[in-house]
Amino acid sequence: MSQFRKEIGSRKTFAIISHPDAGKTTLTEKLLYFGGAIREAGTVKGKKNTKHATSDWMEIEKQRGISVTSSVMEFHYKDHQINILDTPGHEDFSEDTYRTLTAADSATMLIDAAKGVEAQTKKLFKVCSMRGIPIFTFINKLDRQGRDPFELMEEMENLLGIRSYPMNWPIGMGQDFYGIYDRHTKQIELYNGDNPSHVEVKRVSGTDDPILDELIDPALLEQFREEMELLDVAGDQYDEEKIKSGQLTPVFFGSAISNFGVQNFLEHFLNLAPAPVGRKSDKGFIEPEDKRFSGFVFKIQANMNPKHRDRIAFLRITSGKYTRGMSVNHARMEKTIKLAQPTQFLAQDRSIVEEAYAGDIIGLFDPGTFRIGDTLAENDNFQFAEMPHFSPEHFAAISVKDAMKHKSFEKGMNQLTEEGAIQLFHTYNRYPEQQIVGVVGVLQFEVLEHRLLHEYKAEIRLERLPFSIARWVDGKSEELELFKKRQKNLALDRDNRIVALFDNEFQMNMTKDKYPDLSFYENSYMK
Ligand code: G4P
Repeated sequence: MSQFRKEIGSRKTFAIISHPDAGKTTLTEKLLYFGGAIREAGTVKGKKNTKHATSDWMEIEKQRGISVTSSVMEFHYKDHQINILDTPGHEDFSEDTYRTLTAADSATMLIDAAKGVEAQTKKLFKVCSMRGIPIFTFINKLDRQGRDPFELMEEMENLLGIRSYPMNWPIGMGQDFYGIYDRHTKQIELYNGDNPSHVEVKRVSGTDDPILDELIDPALLEQFREEMELLDVAGDQYDEEKIKSGQLTPVFFGSAISNFGVQNFLEHFLNLAPAPVGRKSDKGFIEPEDKRFSGFVFKIQANMNPKHRDRIAFLRITSGKYTRGMSVNHARMEKTIKLAQPTQFLAQDRSIVEEAYAGDIIGLFDPGTFRIGDTLAENDNFQFAEMPHFSPEHFAAISVKDAMKHKSFEKGMNQLTEEGAIQLFHTYNRYPEQQIVGVVGVLQFEVLEHRLLHEYKAEIRLERLPFSIARWVDGKSEELELFKKRQKNLALDRDNRIVALFDNEFQMNMTKDKYPDLSFYENSYMK
């Protein structure tokens, strides 16, 4: 195999999805620790801790103890280069999460064993299943008493519609947690509560091996053997095809905080998770092994480091190889640009990339050249499938308090729109014209206010509007013109596409009935 193919084949790019507090930060840190990417794992953010997790960037995140923006981290383990995309756990940032997931080839769903499938797990799972990517499951916090594993699997099937195949199975839980049994390698990993990161691994001939009688409490062992029998008889069969298509999720049990079960997960994950996959473009499907470099911008973030006022565009390399200083075509702007100093990430530690391959994420310094969804390609001019905007659910009229700050306000609004943090509309046919900002979750308003004030020194006035639905409207020009004349509460998005705003479903359905020949789209994708 050529070095080029080998490089691409060794890459695994995935996202971790979970409800807040399930342990995503903790798991991420333990994974990075295995790769030697951080020396001291366990600097988990939280109210009680003063230290913050490596992936925490923004001040607001620190204040609130939530992860607002997605970050990217990479590490090496054995022969693999692993890229982890962190996604915001808070539901108000689900649009950002969706975009991040377009850059991932698989996802790991993290579940708190005591809580099971939570609201945000459900939402994020839906986004993953829309993409049909493989989903791995890590059931966390086994060092505490949680729910029955069978019940958790049943809940996953009922609430998420996915079947599961436990790759390992816990023996006991909480105070009585003895460890996990790996169904494939037939190994027992013993948990030592006093020294959890010291894992004793024993190979056994199977669940009947008498050695287990010496190691495990008889009542728990009996229960474990019964459960394994039940799994073998009534559980789903192991099926790699189903795993690849996201119909079956391999399940792992462990305790992230104790670094227990994390390595077991990592080893199997690397075996099963897909190497980089290609992407549809307007000139056909682009394969990762295509020698010509191409990629798309899935995230833009300004002012990641307050000391350097910069803006970074995150690019997922779809095909080929990047080399430092190469020139590429920027399809939307129809110009050639030089990729001078891209960086790779370990949260705040950035290093300049000399070369990178399909599957990798690189950060490009962005002087205002990029928008989310932009395509860059070497020696070609095609565009990858557009990234959709979702219908915002909250709207507010926005203006700057001090007219002297108008310029920096406009600059901030423009940047935040390009980052995809907000959607900006202008009222249509209304004087004076008003700017309307739309967001998917209300917390985004707070972030907006905070960032405009701190990064652009612009204090704003937000006046909440009664709308809760936006629909991009399309149709034959005559009907559309009539609609534009008659309909109230219309706005233009930043590409001057007409958008209708409604207070509620009832109002929207009345309008749809009135204009049966027009189409009302939930996002700007218009498909
Ligand atoms: P998140 O990024 O998904 O929001 O979760 P994070 O890693 O910050 O973990 C949330 C809390 O759960 C943390 O508690 C963390 O220590 C704890 N946790 C993570 N993994 C495990 C585990 O395997 N077992 C146990 N018992 N706890 C775990 P915290 O920061 O101390 O604060 P609090 O919110 O519990 O008060």
